[in-house]
Amino acid sequence: MINSAHFNGKAFVAALSREEQKRMGQFMTPPEIATFMARRLIENVDEPIVRVLEPAAGAGVLAAAVVQELLVRDRLPSKIELLMFELDERLVAGLAQLAREMHSACAARGVELDWQVRQEDFLLSELAVTGVSATRLLIISNPPYFKLTKNDPRAVAHSYAVYGQPNIYGLFMAACARLVTAGGKWCFITPRSWMSGNYFSAVRRTMFSHLCMDALHSFESRKDHFAEDAILQEAIITWASAVAQPEPRSQVIVTRSVGIADMEKAPVHAMPIAKLIGSGGSRMVALPVAGGGGHFDDWSDSLDTYGIKISTGPVVPFRALEYVRQFPSPGTVPLLWMQHVSTQGVVWPIQKKREHILAEAGSAWMLVRNAPMVLMRRFSPNESARRISITAYAGTLPGELIGLENHLNYIYRAGGGMSAAEALGLAAFFGSAIVDKKIRSTAGSTQVNAVDLRQMKLPPLVQILAIGNLLHFGSSLAEMDLAVERVLAAELVERQVA
Ligand SMILES: C[S@@+](CC[C@H](N)C(=O)[O-])C[C@H]1O[C@@H](n2cnc3c(N)ncnc32)[C@H](O)[C@@H]1O
Repeated sequence: MINSAHFNGKAFVAALSREEQKRMGQFMTPPEIATFMARRLIENVDEPIVRVLEPAAGAGVLAAAVVQELLVRDRLPSKIELLMFELDERLVAGLAQLAREMHSACAARGVELDWQVRQEDFLLSELAVTGVSATRLLIISNPPYFKLTKNDPRAVAHSYAVYGQPNIYGLFMAACARLVTAGGKWCFITPRSWMSGNYFSAVRRTMFSHLCMDALHSFESRKDHFAEDAILQEAIITWASAVAQPEPRSQVIVTRSVGIADMEKAPVHAMPIAKLIGSGGSRMVALPVAGGGGHFDDWSDSLDTYGIKISTGPVVPFRALEYVRQFPSPGTVPLLWMQHVSTQGVVWPIQKKREHILAEAGSAWMLVRNAPMVLMRRFSPNESARRISITAYAGTLPGELIGLENHLNYIYRAGGGMSAAEALGLAAFFGSAIVDKKIRSTAGSTQVNAVDLRQMKLPPLVQILAIGNLLHFGSSLAEMDLAVERVLAAELVERQVA
């Protein structure tokens, strides 16, 4: 059954253009992953009637996996009720054919299969809109992924799960979470941006008011698990049950693999739910960093407790046309753009950008003190080894003030009082391999922004200074990683001794 669904799905996708595939979010789940998801979903389900919902069925591989896994058990259900939604009419005949195959396979094991395929937008269906479902529903889904406008009827129908720009997959997660009542279960494979992105805060709130997370499996590779579709986002599988009684000490099973090949062999960790889900209103989920490095859990400092700020470069060139210059002239000072900043430091001038700005009373409000600070590109270059492109700046370019273009963020002490060691230590820490891992495990493929850095837990400031004291302006990435590792390893030893 799974193979038949997989075969149909592959044939269907092969006939689509890449654009079409993206427009409807048609990326089919590989059979191994479908089985992996289904097995845990039906674990401990022991009812005579099992109800299954696949809200974005595609070729039906997830439904087939659930039915197949139910049929290999010793204790069989007497009846399976299967409901599949699929918006694309081209997939509907194949789904009905698959359902007939499942019906025969069930009949051969003495199990009744009652199936329905609805060619309908799930998010606008009566089921999703009312949020009222049969009890003990098992939901399994690989929903479509793409952004919607706030006025899209689907976003309007599920406005309880919208904060900022919605992504359709978040609406599927939230709408399905509402359908899980006592004895019900929920399993989704999705990109992992829902875990920490601000735009997903209403999705998370809805999820966690209806569901208790049981397990998470993350894929570290970018392509392997959907190799056929070469999907670029790292994916995460989440299994959850209806909230019986929220229990802060309950444990979530966390596993991770590079791809499909090592999925079944992944080591298992149990994490207290309170450590995974943040307690603040936005309820972010933080996966532990791969390979240990659990420092973050023990830190309580942040930029704010250091008295350090992060802001966006104030110069918006098209609004400052009268001040921005291509060539230096009396009264101009350096204007830094993203192109001047790499992890290796600041290079100015580069004779490529309009890299000078007139410093006079009218423009002074958009200039900053030319003092040590940390500069971060708001968008990482594609080829960049790290998710954060950041560097320490010594404050040595000419002028008392300088301009920072709007695509840069800068980290500074109000009044210009950041020391060189602080700038070096902070840039090395934020740019380090351990922060990179931490960010990849929570933010997925989304860009890292000022809010992420503001919310990040940091080691005590003395350690940032210790890191900075091991470095100089122009240190290599490897030297920075080494300095960060050394200082943090020493911290760990001190803590263990204490
Ligand atoms: C990511 S694919 C997954 C398909 C299948 N569940 C699987 O795992 O292989 C999502 C499917 O949802 C369908 N779809 C997109 N928007 C939908 C909607 N609003 N309601 C129902 N189905 C939708 C697409 O046509 C596509 O087949």
